Amino acid sequence: MMLRAGLISLGSESSVWTAKAMKKYFSEVDELDIRKIDINISGKDAEILYDGKPLGEYDCIYAKGSFRYAQLLKTLTSVLHKKCYMPISPEAFTIAHDKLLTHLELQEHNIPMPRTYVSSTIPAAKKILEKMNYPVIMKFPQGTGGKGVLFADSYASASSLLDALSALRQPFIIQEYVETGGTDIRAIVIGTKVAASYKRKAKMSELRANFHAGGTAEPIVLDTMTKKLAVSVAKAIGAEICAVDMLESAKGPLVIEANVSPGLQLITRTTKIDVADKIARYLYERTLELKSREKKIEAASILRGIDEDKMVTADGKKKLITNLDFRGNKVLLPELITKAARLDEDGYYEILAQPEKVVIRKLKIMKGDEA
Ligand SMILES: Nc1ncnc2c1ncn2[C@@H]1O[C@H](COP(=O)(O)OP(=O)(O)O)[C@@H](O)[C@H]1O
Ligand SMILES: [Mg+2]
Repeated sequence: MMLRAGLISLGSESSVWTAKAMKKYFSEVDELDIRKIDINISGKDAEILYDGKPLGEYDCIYAKGSFRYAQLLKTLTSVLHKKCYMPISPEAFTIAHDKLLTHLELQEHNIPMPRTYVSSTIPAAKKILEKMNYPVIMKFPQGTGGKGVLFADSYASASSLLDALSALRQPFIIQEYVETGGTDIRAIVIGTKVAASYKRKAKMSELRANFHAGGTAEPIVLDTMTKKLAVSVAKAIGAEICAVDMLESAKGPLVIEANVSPGLQLITRTTKIDVADKIARYLYERTLELKSREKKIEAASILRGIDEDKMVTADGKKKLITNLDFRGNKVLLPELITKAARLDEDGYYEILAQPEKVVIRKLKIMKGDEA
């Protein structure tokens, strides 16, 4: 099948590798610079412009970039993911680029992480610090490369750091320090699998495993539980491709970060696994899978813009065979269905959900009756 792909990125070396690998699978691959993208949201439909011209049609778009572009990546993905396959969901960009949002999402999914606190005022933060065991870690939600991570070994030093931080007027995270001997683990998740993983060790006298080139990395084989954990993080944040950073604690692995635009150099050099190729092949297989599913559905019915007489009618019921229009985790019903079922905003409904089936039934009470 002729498949066309686009890679939207900042053009880093990792992106160059990925685009090169994608060319082995897709018929055509465009390397698109995120800085040349504009989104026009004045009209009826939002339009994505590249270099001032409408962006072409693609079967797959892999979008990535640094936290500076999180909002842009989120917006453009919201527009494009309805038209083509994209491995990273719109929400994933904002979640992964903010450690606070990441931790909230992880918590909702019961994913183990270090005890984490956030406070917006200095007095509240000091209250938290009074109750902590030392040392503690403080970090900026959007720091990367270890640059926003601070270490305090006592209340006194944490408290004075706090006073210094208050001048920056930025929220920050207070986190329990997990003793790992300056190491952390990174797993690259592709789909439902861990494609490669390594352990990083900080250089002597450094506690942040990723800080400075002085650190070292070695390949590591993760146990099934840790692999499953990494995959569940990817799923929780909504990214089919991402890196998951974990700390090995006495109680098991604790997740500290997810990265939707991971660098590929260190992981490739360390593990000798061609991660770019694995990503490219995955993108291709997923696109192919979605394309053939689309084709099948198209053959069975017509996707959107269906007119009423094309709906199957059986004993007074209207039936429509279609795919579901997902908005994040929510499903939007086609207008024809809401109309045919005479669903309205004022009624009360019983929604019966069972695996692979939903029944919506209007109840014979009206709003206002409950008083
Ligand atoms: N709670 C913690 N306990 C111990 N070490 C930590 C903790 N959080 C971070 N670190 C160390 O600091 C490094 C950077 O932290 P991380 O949260 O990944 O921020 P960044 O986005 O800057 O990489 C980690 O790789 C780890 O070595
Ligand atoms: Mg990190």
